[in-house]
Amino acid sequence: MAFHEDELAAAEDTHFRSLTAAEADGDERAVEAALRPRSLDEVVGQSRVRDQLGLVLEAARQRGRAPDHVLLSGPPGLGKTTLAMIISHEMNAPLRITSGPAITHAGDLAAILSGMNEGEVLFVDEIHRMSRPAEEMLYMAMEDFRVDVVIGKGPGATAIPLEIPPFTLVGATTRAGLLPGPLRDRFGFTAHLEFYEPDELELIVRRSAGLLGVDLGPGGAAEIAGRSRGTPRIANRLLRRVRDYAQVRADGLVTRPVAQAALDLYEVDELGLDRLDRAVLDVLCRRFGGGPVGVSTLAVAVGEERETVEEVAEPFLVRNGFLARTPRGRIATPAAWAHLGLTPPRQLPGATDVTLFEA
Ligand SMILES: Nc1ncnc2c1ncn2[C@@H]1O[C@H](COP(=O)(O)OP(=O)(O)O)[C@@H](O)[C@H]1O
Ligand SMILES: [Mg+2]
Repeated sequence: MAFHEDELAAAEDTHFRSLTAAEADGDERAVEAALRPRSLDEVVGQSRVRDQLGLVLEAARQRGRAPDHVLLSGPPGLGKTTLAMIISHEMNAPLRITSGPAITHAGDLAAILSGMNEGEVLFVDEIHRMSRPAEEMLYMAMEDFRVDVVIGKGPGATAIPLEIPPFTLVGATTRAGLLPGPLRDRFGFTAHLEFYEPDELELIVRRSAGLLGVDLGPGGAAEIAGRSRGTPRIANRLLRRVRDYAQVRADGLVTRPVAQAALDLYEVDELGLDRLDRAVLDVLCRRFGGGPVGVSTLAVAVGEERETVEEVAEPFLVRNGFLARTPRGRIATPAAWAHLGLTPPRQLPGATDVTLFEA
């Protein structure tokens, strides 16, 4: 078939940014829904969280009561929404879903809470982004199953207490550190989700391939898993791109070479670095001799917004030991030089105050 690499890449260019982004966008949510584990038994990895949560739910079931409030924290794409749905499923209780940004007024929350039935599960995604007054209302609801609904304004305003049937709040946050202490303390159980190991991601890829009807050949799942940044959402996304490639170019079978060729085409390298990640390291090493260089300068040099460099590329690069944040700026580690196939300067930046390198 006459197909040019750059044509295929151009057609997908709008998707490029999101290929290794940990967040899901609109279309992706529908696909994700089909791939979500429905019960704790189906969840791959996170064994400690699974055991602990399993116990919390089982104990609540035996007592015939709504389980304690649960806080799920961790980076995007690791399974917070999935676990919230599993809690409702395992408790056989209806789930109501809202998010911090959607609750701008305490009244929004009062409306939701007053409509809850006994034992229901309320999932508040991005709970750290809720407004302050709503947060305060939530404390009371969580602890006393009661809210004060304020009627009217000014001196004539009156608070009408409203009882709420016992429910379970499941909060999810990517930034547990941003949650005010009093809110955090009202969760009976907090689960912190960790990045997944390659063998766990491989199991997830196999499971998803089964559900999507993708044929995996030798090494295919492992190759995708290795490039997924420890994140199931990315693993599932890369699987779909590799499936496209296999279908168009390789009779549909996802072998290791097919996965490699597909992901090389999409510029996701063998460690999961994408074009932006590599550009950052490249500029840092080649143009700034390994740093230290300020993040704003780095952003200008790669032609990106500072926020994009800081929030999209850096966390992954730091976590994988390619880049270090120092008070004087960003520096490339020996691993970064090695990954780019470059020889690090003899004296690495940060070792002394003034270090000069040959260009
Ligand atoms: N432990 C897991 N086992 C299998 N699939 C998972 C697991 N965790 C997440 N996934 C998959 O990854 C995708 C993203 O998970 P999600 O729960 O939406 O992440 P979060 O809410 O933390 O951003 C879902 O489609 C789900 O199928
Ligand atoms: Mg989510």
